[in-house]
Amino acid sequence: MTIMILVKTVFVVSVLTIVFSISDASFTYTVSKATGLGRRFDGIGGLSGGGCVTRLLADYKSKWYNQIMDYLFLPGFGASLHILKVEIGGDVQSTDGTEPSHMHTADDENYQRGYEWNTMVEAKRRNPNITLYGLSWGFPGWVGEGKKLPWTNSTLRYTMNWLLGAKKYYNLDIDYIGIWNECAWDKGYTLALKAAITAAGLKTKVVGHDSKWDVCTTLVKDPEWAAAVDVIGAHYVGSAIAEECAALNKVQWSSEDMSLDYDTGSLCWARSLNQNYVRANLTATIAWDLIASFYDGLPYSGVGILRANEPWSGHYRIGRLLWVSAHWGQFTKVGWSFLKHGSGVGLLDNGGSYVSLTDPTGEQLTIIVETMDRNSSQCAHSSTVYYSTTNQTATFQLDTSFGHITQLYVFFTDLNILDVDQAFTYKGIITLDNGTFTLQLSVGVLYTVSTINGTKGAYDAPPSQPFPLPYADNFDDHQVYSEAPYFSDQTGSWEIIDTASTRGKTMRQMVPERPISWCDDADYPYSIIGNYTWKQPLNISVDVLIEKNGIAFVALGVSEGGCGNGSSGIVFSVNTTNNGSWQITNSTQLTNPVTSGIVSIVAGTWYKLTLVVLQDYSVGYVNGNPVGRCELTASSYSGWGAIGSSWDYVQFDNFCLQSPI
Ligand SMILES: *[C@@H]1O[C@H](CO)[C@@H](O)[C@H](O)[C@H]1NC(C)=O
Ligand SMILES: *[C@@H]1O[C@H](CO)[C@@H](O)[C@H](O)[C@H]1NC(C)=O
Ligand SMILES: *[C@@H]1O[C@H](CO)[C@@H](O)[C@H](O)[C@H]1NC(C)=O
Ligand SMILES: *[C@@H]1O[C@H](CO)[C@@H](O)[C@H](O)[C@H]1NC(C)=O
Ligand SMILES: *[C@@H]1O[C@H](CO)[C@@H](O)[C@H](O)[C@H]1NC(C)=O
Ligand SMILES: *[C@@H]1O[C@H](CO)[C@@H](O)[C@H](O)[C@H]1NC(C)=O
Ligand SMILES: *[C@@H]1O[C@H](CO)[C@@H](O)[C@H](O)[C@H]1NC(C)=O
Ligand SMILES: *[C@@H]1O[C@H](CO)[C@@H](O)[C@H](O)[C@H]1NC(C)=O
Ligand SMILES: *[C@@H]1O[C@H](CO)[C@@H](O)[C@H](O)[C@H]1NC(C)=O
Ligand SMILES: *[C@@H]1O[C@H](CO)[C@@H](O)[C@H](O)[C@H]1NC(C)=O
Ligand SMILES: *[C@@H]1O[C@H](CO)[C@@H](O)[C@H](O)[C@H]1NC(C)=O
Ligand SMILES: *[C@@H]1O[C@H](CO)[C@@H](O)[C@H](O)[C@H]1NC(C)=O
Repeated sequence: MTIMILVKTVFVVSVLTIVFSISDASFTYTVSKATGLGRRFDGIGGLSGGGCVTRLLADYKSKWYNQIMDYLFLPGFGASLHILKVEIGGDVQSTDGTEPSHMHTADDENYQRGYEWNTMVEAKRRNPNITLYGLSWGFPGWVGEGKKLPWTNSTLRYTMNWLLGAKKYYNLDIDYIGIWNECAWDKGYTLALKAAITAAGLKTKVVGHDSKWDVCTTLVKDPEWAAAVDVIGAHYVGSAIAEECAALNKVQWSSEDMSLDYDTGSLCWARSLNQNYVRANLTATIAWDLIASFYDGLPYSGVGILRANEPWSGHYRIGRLLWVSAHWGQFTKVGWSFLKHGSGVGLLDNGGSYVSLTDPTGEQLTIIVETMDRNSSQCAHSSTVYYSTTNQTATFQLDTSFGHITQLYVFFTDLNILDVDQAFTYKGIITLDNGTFTLQLSVGVLYTVSTINGTKGAYDAPPSQPFPLPYADNFDDHQVYSEAPYFSDQTGSWEIIDTASTRGKTMRQMVPERPISWCDDADYPYSIIGNYTWKQPLNISVDVLIEKNGIAFVALGVSEGGCGNGSSGIVFSVNTTNNGSWQITNSTQLTNPVTSGIVSIVAGTWYKLTLVVLQDYSVGYVNGNPVGRCELTASSYSGWGAIGSSWDYVQFDNFCLQSPI
């Protein structure tokens, strides 16, 4: 019995093999612009924001910073991105941290905060034609004019100031502006924003509304609202679009997509870039996020077009996802056109897809072919899969409308191969045979065939190193308005100020009231630093000045950032409002004190707060004197160091993080 089955199985397998190899199916696809073109191509891009994803990049030394920016934006070097979308910092937690607002309060205006201005300037320096796009995740509380929604004249002034500030201080033309990321939107506000942009003489186009395709259902019923929207953009659409959108006859984008690892997400990204046009007529695709440049241990660690989260060492990593981007970025430009479906755009017969684009003169041609396998179905929110399971032979027949083309450059990535050195390889030049060329397509490969040549630009990144301990910073060497190196704000917003006193520069919590949130912000502002795996005894120490009244704290073993209700950890806090009470809690929410008491602390005076966490207990000190001790230990709480405050102006100086004596 057993032997018979075995023999049978072998027989079946060998027959199948023969069947597959002789039926390596062969298909022909016409490439033509003779009967017109498809839609205008608006580019591929990355999203710096939503939030804090570029935080640690800002602290890289210029040599490494420039290399990373070249990989992302320099045309013909790496990804060669066409679009940079940024968060308009709103003092809110927006996924991996808080980005500072240009208007913390109604009478505050500042265009030097945060890292987005510089990211835009540096991207534009590399590609003067880069498309810029701004979007708010949340807003400072004051714009609500007493309400929790931002549909006010204050928000209009706030958003217009950002657009005008970009022009005034950086000569940046913001090409597109969104409304409120993945939240509600409002007709009155959209119309008012459009009118204000026009009145100001800006050319910025309005994207509605960075959420789901129900935007189309709304706009189809309301021509007045629709008229104020230039582009419809939806997120994580899985290369599908709602039927109602066609009637709007508008530019359609996947305005946030990807959300996958900088290396293993490459299959999905290859598939989305092609199929977003093939199946949904989407003319731009923007990756969340631009760069995994935030601490490991925060949500979505490793998600980005490349990974760079060690500013102290300069180490960064290029994965396959960047080279998949290069398959598009290096061979296309904004303002090119797709060819029509059936004339250079379509699904391949044995799974996968092909897309062709041409420049405005019609001289250039780029054809991108992908045969992603099942693995690409990890594409976020993709319900239907159009993946390839079988080898196939594809012949592309260029008709006389491309009769001037005799040769094409070929770049190739086999995404079954994990080695990034083998991604984006130059395969030489194909000479067309009476307008045709043929590709043997196995499963999981990506080809770009183009009149344009590409380059696999390369730099050597320095080796990885752990966060440097001991670590001390008196903040005196940093630029005012910047964020202190390596601190990553999770709630509230800190910046360097010059006290014009013997204190020199300090780091100050700048947000005086709870913002209009995108997700849950913690109850108390806090900013993390270090390594989320720290489990060893540590000593965190910082001078604090509570300006009027409020709370200041230091913490160790802080394990969580991102959206939510703060983090567990060992937290030593003082409260001047309560006549100088202190407490040690196991959460940055400052609930459930493990131990507490009174110490004479008043507003307007500097104190040194120290928390020492050991194997068996923890001790809180004020000005070097122990005030409280408890049984919370280094082994039961692992995580970052942190400083924190209430929603008040609180300053910090002489920060120090080290092993205890
Ligand atoms: C920018 O666009 C202009 C006009 O289309 C073009 O001449 C120029 O080559 C482009 N520059 C780059 C770096 O792509
Ligand atoms: C906003 O400003 C416009 C024009 O100044 C005014 O007509 C309108 O009433 C204001 N809206 C609110 C909510 O204050
Ligand atoms: C995409 O555009 C083509 C050409 O206009 C049209 O035939 C097709 O139905 C569109 N696809 C979708 C999903 O709207
Ligand atoms: C495809 O997915 C499987 C299982 O999820 C994994 O083991 C394999 O490494 C993946 N292949 C590639 C090329 O990423
Ligand atoms: C070249 O292709 C055209 C159609 O595309 C065909 O009519 C012609 O016979 C071909 N010539 C040769 C030599 O194969
Ligand atoms: C598909 O093509 C690949 C690469 O050429 C080859 O290694 C593989 O054996 C082929 N598979 C089949 C079933 O023919
Ligand atoms: C095309 O680019 C490849 C790789 O960047 C390079 O090796 C080759 O010399 C280039 N070909 C031409 C004709 O410039
Ligand atoms: C954090 O510590 C772990 C364990 O020592 C180490 O592998 C990792 O590289 C460190 N990461 C950072 C960001 O320092
Ligand atoms: C945060 O707390 C609020 C109120 O208690 C609760 O509704 C919310 O679900 C919590 N959020 C998370 C992410 O736990
Ligand atoms: C700080 O003190 C004030 C006044 O007693 C009190 O209302 C507040 O709850 C205290 N905050 C904390 C976190 O204990
Ligand atoms: C924090 O302390 C409270 C009260 O003692 C306890 O219920 C909770 O489980 C503790 N949380 C952690 C993360 O240890
Ligand atoms: C903790 O650090 C502070 C500041 O450097 C120092 O004064 C203190 O002696 C340290 N305490 C312990 C127990 O290590």
